[in-house]
Amino acid sequence: MSGRYLVHTFGCQMNAHDSDRMEEVLRGHGWRAAETPAEADLIVLNTCSVREKAEQKLRSEVGKLAPLKRENPGLVLAVAGCVAQQEGEKLLERVRHLDLVIGPDNIADLPALVLDQMAGAPPRAHTVFDLDAPRFLAAAPARGSTSTPVSAFVTTMKGCDERCSFCIVPYTRGPERYRPATEIVDEIARWVEAGSREVTLLGQTVDSYRDPSLPPPASSDPDESQFPALLRAIAERVPGLGRLRYTSPHPRHATAALAEAHAELDVLARHVHMPAQSGSDRILKRMIRRYTRVEYVERVRRLAAARPGITLSTDIIVGFPGETDADFEATLDLVREVGFVSLFGFKYSPRPYTPALKLEDDVPEAVKSERLARLFEVAEAQTRAHLDRLVGTTQRVLVEGASKTAGRVSGRTEQNEIVHLDAGDLDLTGAVVEVAIVRAYKHSLFAEMTPAARDALAAAPRPSAPRAPRRRRALTLLS
Ligand code: SAH
Ligand code: F3S
Repeated sequence: MSGRYLVHTFGCQMNAHDSDRMEEVLRGHGWRAAETPAEADLIVLNTCSVREKAEQKLRSEVGKLAPLKRENPGLVLAVAGCVAQQEGEKLLERVRHLDLVIGPDNIADLPALVLDQMAGAPPRAHTVFDLDAPRFLAAAPARGSTSTPVSAFVTTMKGCDERCSFCIVPYTRGPERYRPATEIVDEIARWVEAGSREVTLLGQTVDSYRDPSLPPPASSDPDESQFPALLRAIAERVPGLGRLRYTSPHPRHATAALAEAHAELDVLARHVHMPAQSGSDRILKRMIRRYTRVEYVERVRRLAAARPGITLSTDIIVGFPGETDADFEATLDLVREVGFVSLFGFKYSPRPYTPALKLEDDVPEAVKSERLARLFEVAEAQTRAHLDRLVGTTQRVLVEGASKTAGRVSGRTEQNEIVHLDAGDLDLTGAVVEVAIVRAYKHSLFAEMTPAARDALAAAPRPSAPRAPRRRRALTLLS
C-alpha cells in the first residue's frame, strides 16, 4: 500500500537534503509526489529549530492542515527534522492531529512507519540516533533526468561535537558521525554522471571530517582532520566535476593543510563561508567557539592567500548575552577587517537545552534589531563595493537555470556571485560560460557573453534539457 506524499521543508540546506532523501525513500516504495495537499495521503513537515520559534510554528502549520484530515481521515501527518528529534514522544501529546514523529536518522524507516499508520496503528515517535552503525542514505540521481540539479549537495558527516553555547544542533543532530570517503566519492561520481557540474559537501563542521574506514587518528587534534585528503580524493577520482564547494567549516579545523588543498586543487571554488559569530574575544569565549579573533583572522587569511581571488563570507550573531556596545563594535570591526563579501546575520535567540540558557538574555530586543541593521548596513556596503569592482571583468559562470526574467538565465561565478545574462533561445543550463560583467545590482551582477563564448556555443550547440535549479525547495504548500 502506498499513495501520494508532500514534503514541506523548513530551515537549512541539511534539511532540504534530508527532504530529498525522504522523497527518494518514499518513491522507492511506490509512492508518488502529490501536486496539492488535498490529494496527499502523507504530509511530512520537515522542521527546523536552529533559530525559529519552532514549536509554535509547527503548531500553526499543523493547525492549517487539520481541516484536510477531516476530509480525508486516512491522511497521515508526520513531523521530521530537528523539532521531531528534540521533542520526540512529547510532540504527540502537545500537537493535536499528529500521527508520526520521525528523527533525521530514521528516514529509511519512514515508509514502514507510514504503512503502520495507514493500517490503524496508534501515533508513534521514532527518534533514535544511529550511533553504532551510522546510516547515510545514498542519493540516487538518474542519468539524463530533468530533475538532476546543476549543483548537487552531498553529505559527508552528520551531527556536531562542538558545543557552541547558543546552538541546538548537537542536541537535535547528535554526535559527529562520518561517511566513508569511498561512499562520498562514489556519490559525487554518480551526480556527475547524471549531469551535475558542481557539488557542495555538507556537514555541520564539514572540515572536521575523518574517514571512518581508516584507523582512528592518534588524537582529536584539529590537525588530524582528514578533510583535505577527502578533497584531494574527490579531485583525483571525479575528474569530470566542474566545481567543488563545502559548507560550513569551523575555524578550528581550518588548518594549513586545508589552505594547501585550496592552493593545489583547481576544482575548489574560490569562495569560503566561515562562520565567525562575533569579533569580540569575550563573547567568543562565552559562545564556546574555541578560537580568538586573532586566530580567526589568521586562519581565514591563510585560506584566502592560498589562491588569488578567494572571497569570504560568514555568519554573525548579534545580541548574545552580555554583548556590550564595545563587543558589537569589535564585530563590525572584524567584518571590515576581513572584508567579507557577504554575511548572514542573526539576532541571538535562546534555544532549549543549550548552555547559553544559563546566561541572562539581557540585550533588549530593540538593541538587537538596531545592531542587526547596522551589521547589514556595513555588510551591504562591502557587498556593493565588491560587486562594483567586478564590473568590467571577465568571469566564468556556471549556468544553473532560467532566471525570473524571460530569456535570461542565471548562475554563479567561481567566487559565488549570482550572475544574470541574456541567453536568447540558447539552453545554457549546466554550461560554463565566459561572460563580461556589465552591471552590478544590490546582490547580483548582470553580464554579457563574451564573443569567444558566443562563437564556441554557435559551433557546438547544446542539447536542450531543462533541469532543476540549484536550491530545489520542496513544494511550498502552506505559506
Ligand atoms: N555548523 C552549522 C551551523 C548551524 S546553525 C552550519 O554548518 O551551518 C547556522 C547559524 O545559525 C550559525 O552559524 C549561527 O550563526 C546561527 N545560530 C545558531 N544558533 C543560534 C541562536 N540560538 N540564535 C541566533 N543565531 C543562531
Ligand atoms: Fe552549532 Fe557550533 Fe556545531 S554552531 S552546529 S554547535 S559548530
